[in-house]
Order: sequence, then structure tokens, then C-alpha cells
Amino acid sequence: MMHSWLVLGLVVAAAAAGYDYRSQPDLYYDTWWGPEGKEEDTTIRPFRIEWDKKDIDDLVYRLKNRREFVPSLDDSAYRYGVNTHTFGFWLDYWANDYNFTAREQYLNQYPQFKTDIQGLGIHFIWIKPEVPEGKINIPVLMLHGFPGSVREFYDAIKEIQKATENKNFVLELIIPSLPGFGYSDYSNKEGLGAAEMAFIYKNLMNRLGHEKYFMQGGDWGSLITANMATFFPDEIIGYHNNMGVALTDAAFSMMSIASLNPSSIMSCDVVNRLYPLKNTFEQLTRDSGYFHVHATKPDTLGISVSDSPTALMAWLFQQVSICTRKANYDDPEGGLHRYRPEQLLDNLMFYWMPNKGPTSFRIYSNTFNLRNYHLGYLNVTTTVPTVVVQASDEIFYMPPSMLKTKFSNLLAVDVLNDYGHFLAFEVPDVFASNFVSAVQRILAFNNQNMNVRQDKQDFRANKLSNIRQLVRERINSIRDKMSNYENNENPFMY
Ligand SMILES: *[C@@H]1O[C@H](CO)[C@@H](O)[C@H](O)[C@H]1NC(C)=O
Ligand SMILES: *[C@@H]1O[C@H](CO)[C@@H](O)[C@H](O)[C@H]1NC(C)=O
Repeated sequence: MMHSWLVLGLVVAAAAAGYDYRSQPDLYYDTWWGPEGKEEDTTIRPFRIEWDKKDIDDLVYRLKNRREFVPSLDDSAYRYGVNTHTFGFWLDYWANDYNFTAREQYLNQYPQFKTDIQGLGIHFIWIKPEVPEGKINIPVLMLHGFPGSVREFYDAIKEIQKATENKNFVLELIIPSLPGFGYSDYSNKEGLGAAEMAFIYKNLMNRLGHEKYFMQGGDWGSLITANMATFFPDEIIGYHNNMGVALTDAAFSMMSIASLNPSSIMSCDVVNRLYPLKNTFEQLTRDSGYFHVHATKPDTLGISVSDSPTALMAWLFQQVSICTRKANYDDPEGGLHRYRPEQLLDNLMFYWMPNKGPTSFRIYSNTFNLRNYHLGYLNVTTTVPTVVVQASDEIFYMPPSMLKTKFSNLLAVDVLNDYGHFLAFEVPDVFASNFVSAVQRILAFNNQNMNVRQDKQDFRANKLSNIRQLVRERINSIRDKMSNYENNENPFMY
């Protein structure tokens, strides 16, 4: 998950505020990410996951020949990280009970393909439905994040198919592995982050014959798809996001200013999802160590997770645990039993078998750097019609007022009173019905607003300038207040 990039984002955004931003990102459609001299194969080739017997034997050998754990502290649950008193279960299950043959078949149940984009082989699931008379076909790009894989969507695919049976549309699902993840190639060059990946997936969708399509994203997938909505709004019919955040100047200003009176910008029943900010930042700091490592020294950590399946499992399961429920921290099992062992282990196989642990970490360092901030695209709004769904334990909450500073046509924000960050993985039925209903709502909106997106944009821009005016007034009033504080008390604290 990508979690605490927000913490860093805040810091870097503040540090970079003096730079000259450009509204047109300096990114290219044809940047070559592959090895020099590679022949690009632009055909769309069928792909199957095939685990080598030798690699499976090697994995099981490593799992069974691990050293004794240094015991976790008494009663420390997951507060010091993964708890060794309960962790052995998962390693033993992987070595003894996980049926590699059956799982390989399971993972190959959907048609998969590879094609080269900008020098990299991109792996994707591609489900082309029958299109009955009277129904329209809508292509959808669905993107996973860290520590996920295309496996996050396996159960949701069936639920989506069920949920569209009585609708007037069918959905053509295109579910790729991110570069450096699963069966997509990794780049040997610096700089392939979430903005650059947006171009890769635009090119993929175009390669598959789609000039107009829908998008769904969570975690890194949500940042990449938000970038696509920013760079290529004319191609995107609509957008469903299960980790809605707006990394705009206006949203951050609102966030700190509204801490004086949160209910001025959001409804009372969700105030405690963000405020007091002290709690939010405490939690982000507590859970974001992994982020800083990935964003700064990913390759050092990569060495251990590439050599040891135990290290890989511990590192990834820690993130699964903290992102599933905030309270998992105090659970001796880390709350991992919310998932079936096969679910979690299938997902790990996408990292272990193709040895993509180390390369998956690099998306953090390739995205959260000053070069990206200088481009300024995070601050650019998009008119793509958007629906956001917010699980109660999503790692970061923003109210609609802040989200609108990025997504000017935010049609709905669906607030859930349960569940966590991996919505499709944890509750595929809830995810699917929300997603399909979002598609329906957006299609209805587009039908009514066929030619008025531009007007909408102007309309929203007006509203946005009102918000800015408001923000400016509030800043001034806070300045006044601050100058009245003689004892240096911080007016932002409760
Ligand atoms: C962010 O966007 C707003 C509105 O478009 C603009 O006024 C502001 O200057 C931008 N900030 C930066 C740092 O570019
Ligand atoms: C593993 O799965 C395969 C394929 O479904 C099956 O034939 C085999 O009996 C299973 N092995 C065990 C030990 O259950």
C-alpha cells in the first residue's frame, strides 16, 4: 500500500512550494523503459503462469530450513511488527499445505496476456464478455497496488459479472500487473513512477483498441489512475477509486485550516476519520516506516526479501495487517485470519516466483522524489466523472470538499462503515456492487451531460475559486489569531 506517502507528500509539498510548477507535465508517451537494444514485440501474446518444479522445491526447502525465531516480546501483539509467536503458522502452511498444482490452475482460470509497451513486457488479465443485443460494452482498466497483485481482483471478477447481469452494459476487464510486479517486466532505469506508469497503461489500453474506457484503482492503482484522469481526461469515461485522496495545495490548506472547526468542511459523523490531525499523523508515523525505506533504500531491503521467503512474507504481511484494520496492531494474529491462507499465499507467489519483491519497492522511490513534485501534476484538477468509495479503515480519509479540489466532477462519495484498504480482496461482493453501481451512475451522468463537461469544468472552477477565497480569508483570520497568542500556543492543536 502507499499509505504514508501522504506524510512525505506533505513534507515535500511544503518544501517544494517555492518551485515553479508547470501545468503540463513533462512526461513522454514513448519513453523507453526496456533494456537498450531490445526488440519490442507489440503482439498480444497469450500467457500462462508456470511454476517450475525446481523453484517450488527450492522455496519449500528455504521455508523448512529457516532459523529459530527470536521470540517477540511478551504480549506485544503486532506493536513491534509481525509477531513471531503466531507467524510460524503461515510459513508452515506455505511449506506443507499450500497445493502448488491446484493454485497454479486456480491462478490460470482467467485469460492472461503479455504485450510490450515502451520496452517492457506488460502482463494482464483480459476478460472480454459476450455483448448481448441492446447492451453496450465498457472496457475497464483495473489497477492493484502494493503489497498486492492482480490476485486482489480474482474473487471480485465473478461478483462484477454477477452484478452486471441485469444492467444495460457489460464490462470488459483489463487487469494488468504493475511494472516490476508479478509477471510484468521491471525496468533497469531510474524514474518509472506512478506518473510514468500512467502513460504505459494509456498505451496498453490504446494497444487493445480502446480510445475510451473506464478506470478503477486502489492503493498505487489509485494514484496511477488519478494521474491518467489528469493527463488524458478525454479518454476516460469515468473513474471509480477506493482510496480517494486529493494531493492538491487547496486540499492540504483546507485540511490544516479546518482543524479549528472540522464540521465546517465535512459531515459530523466522519470527522473522526481525519481529525484531530494529531491522531491521524500519529497513526501514519507509527505505520509508515516501510514507506520511508521503500522511498529511499529499496534495493537494500530487496536483497533479503529476494533471498528469503520468510523475510518476504513477514515484510508484506505486516503491510497487509496494518492496512486491513488500524486496530490490528493490538491483535496477536495481526488480523490476518480475515483472509483465507490461499488468498494471502497466492498473492505472495506473485512476488516470490518471479522474484519481484525488490523491484516492487522501487515504485516508491521513483514516485516520491522532488523531480515528480516539480512537475506539479498532483495539483492539477481533472473533470473525469468520479465516484469514490471509502472503507472505514482506509488508511487515509479525505472528505468530499477536499476531494473536489482534484476531482471536479465528483459525483458521489460512498461511505462504508466497515472494511479496510484492500476492499476487492477483503469483501469482493461489497466492492463489486459498489463499483458496478458507480459505472451506472457515471453513465447516467454522461448521458445527461454529453457536451457540458467543459461547462461543468468552468462551473466547478468558479466554485473552486470561492473555496480558495474562503481559505485565504481563513488563513488571514488565523494569522490574526496567531499574532494574539502571547504564550506561543499553537492554534492548530486541540
Ligand atoms: C495549484 O493549483 C492551483 C489552482 O489551479 C493554483 O492556483 C496554484 O498556484 C497551484 N499551486 C502550485 C504550487 O502550482
Ligand atoms: C493438489 O491439487 C491437485 C490438483 O487439483 C490434486 O490432483 C492433488 O490431489 C492435490 N494434492 C493434495 C496433496 O491434496
